Amino acid sequence: MEEPQHIIDKPRIASYAFAFDIDGVLVKGSETIPEAPEALRILNGDNKYNITVPYIFVTNGGGKTEKLRCEDLSDRLGVPVLPEQFIQGHTPMKDLAEKFNTVLVVGGVGEACRNVAHSYGFRDVVTPGDILKWNPHVSPYRTLSEDEYNNSKERDFSKVAIEAILVFADSREWASDQQIILELLMSKNGVMGTTSENHDEGPPIYFAHNDFVWSTNYKLNRIGMGALLVSISALYQEHTGRQLDKVIKFGKPNQETFAYASKVLTDWRQQSYGSFSDRHTTDESDSALTTTAATTPNSANNIVLEGEESEAEEIKEYLPSASTVYFVGDTPESDIRFANTFDKRWHSILVKTGVYQDGTEPTFKPKTICSNVLEAVKFAIEREHLKELEEMGSA
Ligand code: G3P
Ligand code: MG
Repeated sequence: MEEPQHIIDKPRIASYAFAFDIDGVLVKGSETIPEAPEALRILNGDNKYNITVPYIFVTNGGGKTEKLRCEDLSDRLGVPVLPEQFIQGHTPMKDLAEKFNTVLVVGGVGEACRNVAHSYGFRDVVTPGDILKWNPHVSPYRTLSEDEYNNSKERDFSKVAIEAILVFADSREWASDQQIILELLMSKNGVMGTTSENHDEGPPIYFAHNDFVWSTNYKLNRIGMGALLVSISALYQEHTGRQLDKVIKFGKPNQETFAYASKVLTDWRQQSYGSFSDRHTTDESDSALTTTAATTPNSANNIVLEGEESEAEEIKEYLPSASTVYFVGDTPESDIRFANTFDKRWHSILVKTGVYQDGTEPTFKPKTICSNVLEAVKFAIEREHLKELEEMGSA
């Protein structure tokens, strides 16, 4: 048993990884979940096994740029969180910037979502405020505040074709946002004040996610963006007798978001391995690198540092997929479904600090249920440690 002890004593980086939901797992409205900072410190290496575990964040939330959101999260969690490890509901929608020229962006506070869309490269971004500034009668009971009026752009919307509606974040003004969205869905080519004969020539509508409820500081769950979709669909059907079919959903549990998250995780693991190797090969003059475990796909083995920098570069380049990705979430319909559906190596963990109510039957069954995120991290680290000992024992 000399060998296992030798490996455990060295600083290592895990072959497995974590992905975290945010609302209901790490934060809850303005509160930080008390166990969250310690959970992340453990993954950053503060643990008895001397292991560092790479992790990313996959939230359906949004309404701010990734940079701002990460700064806020870093402050609250006490560990650095970088945009390279961070996906919001609307992050994968940046790929639409090439496809559409003029888009209506809905949701969020003030100009924040317009700024997000510009940061993604969208060229011509319209907000509901711009439309209400053009013609306040579009929504009879809504008056723009002075700030909203001043920030909104002057423009003649009878001459603008809106090519897509992008719901980036929760609507703060359901009545006027719904009025505008409905009008555009039934319009002729996205021009305000027009109606298409069969109400089917309007632009498509994209939602950053589809969560019907979410968890805040209030004791009961609150309705969210998925509820707006239900409402818009019902209004459209009532108005037209047709089903709304030009709806595209991003966020968990959708496949585009899974593919996007997998890519972010691969890049982040490569970056983590690189910086970990750099740190340890320069700090520890007697270190050497053992790469055999790292080059075995699906192995429970972890990388032990014992070598040259060039070898570390090699690991980065030929890094196999994560042996297991532990996904910690609070919402069975989005988080657990997301983690269970696309890749067997993802291990879903449901926590009890958010949407899921203890004692109820989750609609999508997690592989593991834990009280909170700290328990989830400890569970996974112990499980992986046992796997590692088993593999070393049988080698
Ligand atoms: O509105 C839903 C959103 O806040 C959920 O965020 O982090 O639980 O995916 P998250
Ligand atoms: Mg959540």
